[in-house]
Amino acid sequence: MVSQVPNQSAFSGLSAQSRALLSDAILDEYSLDLIARYFRTMSRAGFILKDVKPPLVRMLIRVCDEFLPAVINGKIPPITASGRHLSIDQELLRGVPCSRPQRVLDVGAGYPPVTSRELVDALPRGSTAISLERRLPSYLLMKDQSSYAWVESDGRISFIRDEKDIPRNVLLREYQKFLRECLDAPASNMLTKTSRTPMANVEMVVGDLAHSPVLGSFDIARAMNIFSYYSVQARDELERTMLSYLKVDGVAVAGSNYWNGCEQRYFRWSKVDDRIISTAFTFTLDNAVPLGCTPWLDVWGGCPEVDLLGKFVAIIRNDAELVDALSHYFRESQSMVHDGMPLMDCYEVRKRELTNLRTSHLVGRAAGTLIAHGIACDVTCAGEIEVRI
Ligand SMILES: C[S@@+](CC[C@H](N)C(=O)[O-])C[C@H]1O[C@@H](n2cnc3c(N)ncnc32)[C@H](O)[C@@H]1O
Repeated sequence: MVSQVPNQSAFSGLSAQSRALLSDAILDEYSLDLIARYFRTMSRAGFILKDVKPPLVRMLIRVCDEFLPAVINGKIPPITASGRHLSIDQELLRGVPCSRPQRVLDVGAGYPPVTSRELVDALPRGSTAISLERRLPSYLLMKDQSSYAWVESDGRISFIRDEKDIPRNVLLREYQKFLRECLDAPASNMLTKTSRTPMANVEMVVGDLAHSPVLGSFDIARAMNIFSYYSVQARDELERTMLSYLKVDGVAVAGSNYWNGCEQRYFRWSKVDDRIISTAFTFTLDNAVPLGCTPWLDVWGGCPEVDLLGKFVAIIRNDAELVDALSHYFRESQSMVHDGMPLMDCYEVRKRELTNLRTSHLVGRAAGTLIAHGIACDVTCAGEIEVRI
């Protein structure tokens, strides 16, 4: 662990309070660089650093301290949440032939593969999905989105819980007890014994995309919340591997989003004849008045999605009238605000508000297309902006 005083120029615009928080945190060099990258991108995107609220700085420190090391070391178990990709799926379905059953590859789908199932359900009858997962614990116990435990095949128990003040040994005891109770009473609906055929039309395959498992070919491929955690070189290879599974006329998406569809940024590709064409970069409007920090985290430097997000948000933030309107909608819908920052629970409400804002405000301007600095962006019905590339 190093430096207590972040003196990089990236931090110079921050308020004294935010700087003090960073100074007091015990952060290694990697984390300081990551946070510096974050603030540099935010500045380029037109945000004023002195307006950054302390809860956001605390969130960044926690992400560096706990979340990222766990994800990077492969410790986060394969979890997901129903509904997470629904608005992305709507976009994916555009152009999919409505009569022919489709084969879907869902890379790192999480468990249970509810989002694979949701996509299959929206596709023509007879469509199927393969959920490719690097690892699958024997049992997964999920209390809520930030509190879960799992049992490995050798019986080891691991857990994650989003409460800092409880000592780890107390938590571990609590979880061991909880898990044993659940194992004794398998009817508990919180405990899932993981299975390779958990749902009709969805098959789990345990394998690492990096090893190009033999899977056949697919009409649709999706990889959400995975590639951003790999270095640029590794993600390029993973992307290429995923796209190599596409059939002619197939489509693919990869990027990141939050639990209920906001904080989105992702790329879309199509396979035309034998060529892969990158067709669109899409992000949700909430990124112009960010709710959290995840879409802006460039984990290893050089993440193309973070770079593009910064560029497009800079364009939007140049439009004072639009930013005012967005901020107004966010403020109006923030019934629960903690120290100037929205609480997670507000996300769903605000996403709905945002959709209203989009239709009344943006569509009124340019018939569904926001034209800024010569770049035409389609505003889609899910409150997203799609930039054709
Ligand atoms: C953060 S979770 C996202 C889960 C789900 N896609 C979602 O968006 O809710 C990332 C998942 O990707 C899986 N994963 C990461 N790298 C992988 C790889 N190279 N091959 C297969 N799965 C991978 C992890 O096991 C984990 O379940």
